[in-house]
Amino acid sequence: MRQFLIAGNWKMNLGPAESKAFFTDMSALTNDVGTKAEVLVCAPFVSLSTALEAAASVKGFQVGAQNLHFENNGAYTGETSASMLKELGCQYVIVGHSERREYFGETDEIVGKKVAKALQEGLTPILCVGEVLAERKSGEQNKVVETQLKGALDGLSADQIAKTVIAYEPVWAIGTGEVASPDQAQEMHKFIRAVLAELADENVAASVRVLYGGSMKPDNAEELLGQPDVDGGLIGGASMKADSLFKIVEIANKLT
Ligand code: 13P
Repeated sequence: MRQFLIAGNWKMNLGPAESKAFFTDMSALTNDVGTKAEVLVCAPFVSLSTALEAAASVKGFQVGAQNLHFENNGAYTGETSASMLKELGCQYVIVGHSERREYFGETDEIVGKKVAKALQEGLTPILCVGEVLAERKSGEQNKVVETQLKGALDGLSADQIAKTVIAYEPVWAIGTGEVASPDQAQEMHKFIRAVLAELADENVAASVRVLYGGSMKPDNAEELLGQPDVDGGLIGGASMKADSLFKIVEIANKLT
């Protein structure tokens, strides 16, 4: 049985003061998110300490990072290593988000190195994959996602793959208000499991959590999370307000 993971991605939003305010709002809604769904927000680096401290007021609420560097330390100005994130208290880190691929030149090779480093340091990578609109229109979405998965996971052991989380984020649905239909999400998530079975084995494919991301909101979360192969959400816009994220958490709890 896979546990839902409801993960916010704040992107370059919510500095320390706003992060603190988010948890003040969240703790007014609940002081315990329970254990049915895992609940997480991935905050900007500069907000991590504040967010981790503030999150302690809501039992079960976790805070993760949005990126890492694949080296341990050294002359990499502006970068942050896996061990630094671990030291702060992060358990999760987003890797290979489409915005990093598009604006910061992250290739499958770089993404793969980051996934491997996160795993080596005991962090759980949330590996993002997904096609752009032109690829969906020309029916290449499976090929694109397969290449991204293989590029990032090739060379990892089945045990390591079992410790990753995959997020399917069709780029055309990110921040656009346009959302993949439940059928489109289910079809891709099932395909992702088939690729995982090839890279590892059937047991691993059945145990890895595959999240959906792209305009997930309280009003569409139930039908997406209700799909058999959708194990949670990676949520941008709707995760920046405590009440809308909490509504999605409640939906996941109801479906558990
Ligand atoms: P939106 O939920 O704002 O579409 O963002 C999705 C996303 O990119 C999460 O990583």
